[in-house]
Amino acid sequence: MTHSEKPIQSRLLSAFSGSCQDYPPIWLMRQAGRYLPEYREVRAKAGSFLDLCYSPKYAAEVALQPIRRFDLDAAILFSDILVIPDGLGQMTRFDEGVGPVLLRLEGPDDFSLLSLTRMETHLVPVYQTVADLRATLPREVALIGFSGAPWTLATYMLEGKSSREFALAKYWAYVRQEDFAHLVDILVEAVVLHLSLQVKAGAQVLQIFDSWAGVLDDWGFRRWVEEPIARITARLKRDFPEVPILVFARGAGAQFDGLAGRIGADGLALDSMVPLAWARDVVQPQTLIQGNLDPAILRIGGPAMDRAVNDILTAWKGGRFIFNLGHGILPDTPPQHVAALVRLIRESGKATK
Ligand code: CP3
Repeated sequence: MTHSEKPIQSRLLSAFSGSCQDYPPIWLMRQAGRYLPEYREVRAKAGSFLDLCYSPKYAAEVALQPIRRFDLDAAILFSDILVIPDGLGQMTRFDEGVGPVLLRLEGPDDFSLLSLTRMETHLVPVYQTVADLRATLPREVALIGFSGAPWTLATYMLEGKSSREFALAKYWAYVRQEDFAHLVDILVEAVVLHLSLQVKAGAQVLQIFDSWAGVLDDWGFRRWVEEPIARITARLKRDFPEVPILVFARGAGAQFDGLAGRIGADGLALDSMVPLAWARDVVQPQTLIQGNLDPAILRIGGPAMDRAVNDILTAWKGGRFIFNLGHGILPDTPPQHVAALVRLIRESGKATK
């Protein structure tokens, strides 16, 4: 074996096998984004947010920015969960100061217009970005690919925008179950295809974002969060058994108990509301956990952050664990707080040696 073929295991990938580590790997949800001045510069050059997502040159550039600035263990593809509806043919835009705006799906006739073939073609630049990133990143920095989960994607596709009450999505989920199941079937196929193409292009870890998992009742959670994700992971595990899958089911609460087993995940990303001692005793013995600093505390920084980070490290120490936030970085977070956070995590290893 020549030197260049020698496998260098990234800290992030070894966390899944539970190999003993001095300090946990760290990456942050939304680590590329508006809190970085260099992101805002590229974003202005690229045009619209979706233009940025579909430009391999600019998308790879912004994904690399946090890696250059901070000592992070993973890069995440720069894209968005809503490239799936856009790729499937549903009109999708991001309006300045508003967020996502989609031409909302009104019923089964609209569902049947969604096209997987169109998506595969439309998202070629996204898979090119993955390939370019893997070719550029140092081997010890893992590359994470991602997708939205069917339930969270469906909320945007049916509401046409970010929602607080999910009146339309819940109407379909609880009343028009058969029709909704048809939409979810299409999204299961779309997510499997999207994630498979990312793995083929070089993604080494996958994260599935179900940001709105926590707004469903017990039955809804099993039917529309667990069942579709379990179908997705089963398909991916068959084709790519070596690629770990993380699931971010935000707000799942007590449902985190046993969740990894029920959905076939290799790790669970926890939100900041989850009680640490409970998660350590109940969830961590079942699976790797990732999380869960409150992004608002990262924005505050200083002693408040020192306290929160220490609580988290104390709780998770000894088990399988990746340090992260409980949700994405807030746009007005000072970048030096991120640098300070990474330092705290690295130094935690020295302190316990
Ligand atoms: O660095 C990374 O984490 C990778 C890129 C990434 C983005 N969005 C870029 C982005 C990832 C993984 C996402 C996931 C995403 N997108 C989720 C799931 C995670 C979560 O936050 O709950 C959701 C629900 C979306 C949908 C979305 N995208 C919304 C609601 C918005 C508008 C709100 C906002 O923050 O602006 C976006 C836009 C978006 N996605 C931005 C970025 C960097 C900001 C766009 C800009 O530059 O104007």
